[in-house]
Amino acid sequence: MGIQGRVGQRNAPTVLNALYNKKQFWDGRSETLEDQAAMPITNPSEIGQASLDTAVATLRAIAEYKEEFQHVFGQDPTRLTLVRAIAAYERTLVSFDSPFDHFIAGDPNAIDDAAKRGWVLFNTKAKCNRCHASVNHDVVYFTDFEFHNIGIGILRHHVTPLALKAMQEIKKGDLPAIDRAAIQSDFSVLGRFLVTRQEADIASFKTPTLRNVLVTAPYFHDGSMQTLWDAVDHYNKGDGLKDPWLDDDIEPLALTEDEIDDLVAFMASLTSPEYKEIGIKEFARQRALARTSRPQRDTARAFGPKPEKPKAPSLTNDSSHP
Ligand code: HEC
Repeated sequence: MGIQGRVGQRNAPTVLNALYNKKQFWDGRSETLEDQAAMPITNPSEIGQASLDTAVATLRAIAEYKEEFQHVFGQDPTRLTLVRAIAAYERTLVSFDSPFDHFIAGDPNAIDDAAKRGWVLFNTKAKCNRCHASVNHDVVYFTDFEFHNIGIGILRHHVTPLALKAMQEIKKGDLPAIDRAAIQSDFSVLGRFLVTRQEADIASFKTPTLRNVLVTAPYFHDGSMQTLWDAVDHYNKGDGLKDPWLDDDIEPLALTEDEIDDLVAFMASLTSPEYKEIGIKEFARQRALARTSRPQRDTARAFGPKPEKPKAPSLTNDSSHP
């Protein structure tokens, strides 16, 4: 939620361990934390400053900021030092040392049996490691740093006409326009396509890390899911029928209820010690919610065959042109 309670289309991604991201934002529209920091300052739905210079002028008018910037950078706040200061702070938000890290380092009692079974499922039957791992058994980042279409939000939108419209209305590479489209318009669902204009990137988003995911609900780029049970239910049914750009690795998984619980227990074991208390409460909250409401559960589809993928309609415009 931004200024004056304005709600954007995108769920704020975690800043924890964001320094390791190869690209920032759900669609990777900026390369560095410095470039990233500049955009929410002027986005009308976020911090809503008229320009970066307006923000700098505000800082310059506050004695404490002037003094601190002089102290750290030897000059008054500027556009550059403003974003450098924010990025430098974000680079301190490093978060590891979870129970899972102790387990993988050799302490067999650091996580319970459910989490251990979940870790096995993660790398086998549930296929999570195909994307949430940089190599097969990555135990550091829990992301491949790539972009995939996993079928989130796509059923609510007619993506092909939307992609055509975006190509007409947004100039390729116009970052402020892409930023506004991503946060404030229906184009948001197009994901990385807004940045690259490659058809294969339609509705694809960055694989997020799963570290501390228990304490960063709601989930997915649009914040459309409330619990980790919902997230696993989504994968279990191989959602995305009618989605011609769906990643080939998304398919029905035939996970049982016990296996779903195990995967959630594994994800919960990725919670760093500074969030332990919040994690315990959040686990109980999500479990209680999941016991009464499982909007994504579709057991018939989870145990059914992989649906045939529809053919991708071609975008009539030449996508290499702005
Ligand atoms: C084909 C690649 C792929 C596979 C396989 C995959 N994921 Fe993901 N995961 C992603 C992407 C991409 C996103 C973000 C998608 C979006 O928001 O539109 C995501 C998002 C998530 C989120 C939400 C995180 C957040 O911060 O909002 C959770 C939880 C998650 N995945 C868990 C899993 C689990 C558990 C499995 C295995 C059952 C799995 N994923 C399999 C690519 C994948």
